[in-house]
Amino acid sequence: MGVSALGYVALNVSQPARWVEFATGLFGVEVRRRAKGKALDLRIDERHHRFTLYPAKTDSMAALGWEVATMADLESLAEALRAEGIEVAAGSAALCEERKVRALYSFHEPHIGVSTEIFYGALVSNTPWAPSRGVSGYNTGNGLGLGHIVYWVKDMTATIAFYERVMGFRISDTIAWDDNDAIFMHCNPRHHSLALVAEAPGRPGGRLNHIMLEARTLDDVGYGFDIAKDMKIPMIFEMGKHTNDHMHSFYVVTPSGFGMEYGFGGRLISENWEIRHYDQPMLWGHRPPV
Ligand SMILES: [Fe+2]
Repeated sequence: MGVSALGYVALNVSQPARWVEFATGLFGVEVRRRAKGKALDLRIDERHHRFTLYPAKTDSMAALGWEVATMADLESLAEALRAEGIEVAAGSAALCEERKVRALYSFHEPHIGVSTEIFYGALVSNTPWAPSRGVSGYNTGNGLGLGHIVYWVKDMTATIAFYERVMGFRISDTIAWDDNDAIFMHCNPRHHSLALVAEAPGRPGGRLNHIMLEARTLDDVGYGFDIAKDMKIPMIFEMGKHTNDHMHSFYVVTPSGFGMEYGFGGRLISENWEIRHYDQPMLWGHRPPV
């Protein structure tokens, strides 16, 4: 029971053209335009898409999609959400077609406050992924999922309890540093698919901190680092390595204002995992640009 991976992200974006430039130029995504409408699907692996961009007046999360391994798990997770008093709506045939999945339920997640979907049966395309720049691809196979997502949250205790007890996550570790307090959670061997950071002045609960994509090679990230500088994409943290998941990565600002981490080499959760507690997020690097 519970979710098995981070599946997809649908975004309302106020600057779709800049998003396309950003996502193709830096991450090498394949843009899939639709016969009808202005929404854009972005592809990074064998799946039909992992991101959808909806042109909009303001930037927001349209839907955060968590994958569930079986149809039976999907039904029991929907039931568990209802038992929490959460209103859960079965996805219409049109919405399933939009997301390219066999079945889904949508609900307003009450702790982070994000529009959330749980789904089963993502469509794998019959054509190979065609990256828009020379990258070796993303580490999304073997059940690891899209990557990870990090939110600031208002009530850490209640949010952690919800994701553990209802959504099926387990705690990987925690990091407390300066005025930050973060918890990292896994739902498959990826070190974390979700992380929660306690809100602080100027960083309100419910705000999206960043989404991480994991490259298959360090060179993809290295070229990406140079490209980000050449494209003058605002950088949050330069290259560094994390204490907890051992990810080698850098962080940039997306055209929507939240961050994206471009990583490589994240460690996997082992069978006899021990929860650790750190006082720094980085082993080295991850410094703000000067
Ligand atoms: Fe991250």
